[in-house]
Amino acid sequence: MKVIACYSMKGGVGKTATSVNIAYWAAKSGLKTLLIDLDPQGASSFYFRVKPSKKQWGERFFQAYEALLKHIKASDFENLDIIPAHLSFRNFDSLLSGLKKRESRLKRILKGFNKDYDLVILDCPPSISHLSESIFIASDIVLVPVIPTTLSERTYEQLLDFFKEHKYPKTHITSFFSMVQSQKSLHKATIEGMSQRYKTFLKTTIPYSADIEKMGEHKAPVDVFAKSKPANLAYSELWKEIAKLIKS
Ligand SMILES: Nc1ncnc2c1ncn2[C@@H]1O[C@H](COP(=O)(O)OP(=O)(O)O)[C@@H](O)[C@H]1O
Ligand SMILES: [Mg+2]
Repeated sequence: MKVIACYSMKGGVGKTATSVNIAYWAAKSGLKTLLIDLDPQGASSFYFRVKPSKKQWGERFFQAYEALLKHIKASDFENLDIIPAHLSFRNFDSLLSGLKKRESRLKRILKGFNKDYDLVILDCPPSISHLSESIFIASDIVLVPVIPTTLSERTYEQLLDFFKEHKYPKTHITSFFSMVQSQKSLHKATIEGMSQRYKTFLKTTIPYSADIEKMGEHKAPVDVFAKSKPANLAYSELWKEIAKLIKS
């Protein structure tokens, strides 16, 4: 079983759009996939029409994987299950700060899913925190969407530095350009520059597209309502690149 975290310190960069579409393509390719929505705002749960339970169960999340089992919901798609976010997940950071061996908690809990799933995708909230550290340790790939602007490069550099400092042994940072507007010269120049400076970028870029915004209206991955559109083809290509990485 592999674990992919869609992560960025920044909000609004496409983590949720990516989690939803990648989870969809992974499941479609035959991998038993579990999407865990760690962002208390619950956007990826919403896109898959899955409602959280009414119980405030966040406190039990890091105890044992059995606590999570009850909250697994089937999606409308074969091979794809979801653990929806709950508002109580907003307390994860203070919850973790009170736990022993907090950094490895999430990793230990996810191990429980090894038998039943090939792939776990974590849709992460934006921040750098105890929760993010436990996410980094639990993941094989930290997948970072980057909007190609000057400020994004600074944030990206900070993340790489953080990883260097902490030496996470098995985790790889992999990134891709998100919300790309190729008519903008700043986007073009940043993509060229960053692709040369960092060897962490996938080839596929995700265009800025109204079809991705429409996921909220349709409450579905892009393939369901915009099959032949560039945004959908881009996510399908992005998945193919990621699939190669997790096989190797
Ligand atoms: N490639 C894209 N093109 C246009 N809009 C996008 C794209 N990706 C995401 N969005 C929109 O931008 C907003 C933030 O995206 P989201 O995936 O929720 O980001 P995050 O999870 O990083 O906060 C949402 O309204 C979403 O519909
Ligand atoms: Mg999100």
